[in-house]
Formats: sequence, structure tokens, C-alpha cells
Amino acid sequence: MPIISTNRLITIERHIASEEQLHPEATGEYSGLLRDLTLALRLIARDVRRAGLNDILGFTDTTNVHGETVKKLDDYANDVIFRAMDHGGHLCVMASEESYGLIHIPSRYKKGKYVLVFDPLDGSSNIDVNATIGTIFSIYRRLEPNDTSDGSLTDVLQPGYKQVAAGYASYGSAMNLVYTSGNGVDVFTYDQTIGEFLLTREKVTIPQRGKIYSINEGNYNRWEPRLRQYIDYLKTPSDDGLRPYSLRYIGTAIADVHRTLYYGGIFMYPADSLSPKGKLRLMYELNPLSMLIEQAGGRATDGTRRIMDIMPTDIHERAPVFMGSQDDVLDLETFLRGEHTSQQ
Ligand code: AHG
Ligand code: MN
Ligand code: MN
Repeated sequence: MPIISTNRLITIERHIASEEQLHPEATGEYSGLLRDLTLALRLIARDVRRAGLNDILGFTDTTNVHGETVKKLDDYANDVIFRAMDHGGHLCVMASEESYGLIHIPSRYKKGKYVLVFDPLDGSSNIDVNATIGTIFSIYRRLEPNDTSDGSLTDVLQPGYKQVAAGYASYGSAMNLVYTSGNGVDVFTYDQTIGEFLLTREKVTIPQRGKIYSINEGNYNRWEPRLRQYIDYLKTPSDDGLRPYSLRYIGTAIADVHRTLYYGGIFMYPADSLSPKGKLRLMYELNPLSMLIEQAGGRATDGTRRIMDIMPTDIHERAPVFMGSQDDVLDLETFLRGEHTSQQ
């Protein structure tokens, strides 16, 4: 089994404190940041669960910076994260999928040495049908660690390999927090009776190859021919029994990636003739999810480049993505290069 469960009773705070001991220079600022963030996640989870009851389901009149209709819960989650994180003294600036420009720390509060980038609610089209949604985050160090002024755009526009930590909370049948600080991927499950995230899976590793592909196949006719060939290949039975693959697609990136992390296979959101850079956002979705996938032993590319090596030029930029099990992503890359031979 690739996933190691644990019997040890460890809260997220205890876990972060023990990881901090690996860094003698740590000041405790990072633990404080994570404490504030998990408070925001608990608040969002509570209101996701109560969404129908509170009659806050449905659309607001506004659209976000990507031209999509924003649901009330997106706004709410964006706001909660801001209110939990603006005054802790840990951050110098934030950026969110739902906010047009940078989110500055109010002038009355201390500026810290970290940068927070987040997608407050991922999968918002699934809110009304009670399918899994989540919150994704990335943490970076500011470029000048001793600077005490506001963080700037260059502090935010860092490539994914510079992430100090990344993770997501999924609001599904249980609330999971999937987290890495570059020391493997650990999964915590929220126990609402005691208000704590407890470690439930340690050092998750993704299978070397899976048997599931995940993509919005309704866009098939808009893809480049080599990608279509790859998808056709996955569906064609093979003598060795490796194919056909199963298709699973929830339409919430964190939920599709979560399944991919556990069961292996490949998750894709490619470019197509209408969206030359795909749909998903490099900074809010792809970098944090890529860090988790790589930390679990998987691979994440835009077809030719490692996602985490892409130098962002705009906080809201998008990129195509293919991520998951090593062997599956390598196969896909072979197809995209036009090097796959039909005997394989
Ligand atoms: P968000 O709700 O943050 O805007 O993200 C939605 C994204 C992502 O979660 C998912 O993978 C993708 O949209 C699904 O897009 P399609 O409906 O085009 O398949
Ligand atoms: Mn999203
Ligand atoms: Mn979102």
C-alpha cells in the first residue's frame, strides 16, 4: 500500500512545531501563520456545511477577475482568510484568485516575512450539488527577509519551486488538510467534536502508475491531435491488462488531484483551441498542487516544462497542466512530443 496510516495522535499544531525543530533558525512566526490559516479553514468548513441552511447558496451579481460568476461562498471564504491573516504579523502581502490586485496588510499591522497566495474556494460550481470543494494555499518567503515594509508584486511572482509550504483543505464527507513543507505530504482530518486537525496519513506516496485519467473530455474536439491520440490510447484495451483506464472527473481540481494522489493516474487541464493557456491558474492552483504531487513522488508539467519552474509574470496567469503518477505523465509527454509508437 502506498499510503501509510498512522496511529499516533498528533495535531497539526504539534506537527508544525516538530517540523520547526528541524530548522534551528525558526522564530515561531511560521507556526503562528499556520495557526491563523487553520482557523480560517475551520471557519470556511463550518459555513460550507451550513451553506444551504443559511440560504447563502446562489450567485452574487458580480464576476471575478477571470470573468466567472462568483458565488457568495467564494466571497465569504476570501473575506474569512483575509480577516484571519491580516493582523498576525506573519505576512507582508497576499494574493487571491478572487481579488483583482495584491491584498495588502493594513498599515496599522506589522508586516512579516511570508507571502500567502490562495484560492479561497476551489470547485465553486459544485457548491450547489454538495460535491467536494476546497481551499488551496501556497506560502513563500518575501525576497528581503529583514524588510518590514509592505510586500510587493515581485514578492508574490515567485516560481513554484520557491514555495515554503503548500496545501489544500477539502470540504467533502470529511474535512481533510493535505499539507507539505517540503518534507513529504501529510494528511490531517478534522475532528469537529474537539476542533482539531489530527494526522491521519503520513508521507503519502503516489503510485508509480495508475489506472485512472481525469479530464473534461467534453473539450475533446478542441484539443491538439496528439492529446486526443493519448486519450484514445488510454481507452484502448491492451493485452497486458494495463488499459483501458477508467475516467473520473469531479470538476473540482483539489478533489480530482486528491484522488490522483491516493490512487495514481493522471489529472489534466490542457490548453485547447478556445483557451490557449488552459483554465487553471498557475499561482493559486497549479503550483501548490504540483508541490504536493512532487512531494508524493509524482510529476507535474505543462506538457514540456515542470510547472514549478515556470516564472510567473502575472498573479492571475493560467497554464495547461498534466499531473500525477510518474509513468503516466511520462507517457503523456511522449505522445505530446509525437514520439509514441503504436506497438507500445
Ligand atoms: P474555481 O472554482 O476556483 O474557479 O476552480 C474551478 C476549476 C477547478 O477546480 C476545476 O478543475 C475546473 O475548474 C473545472 O473546469 P471545467 O468545468 O472546465 O472542467
Ligand atoms: Mn480553483
Ligand atoms: Mn476559486
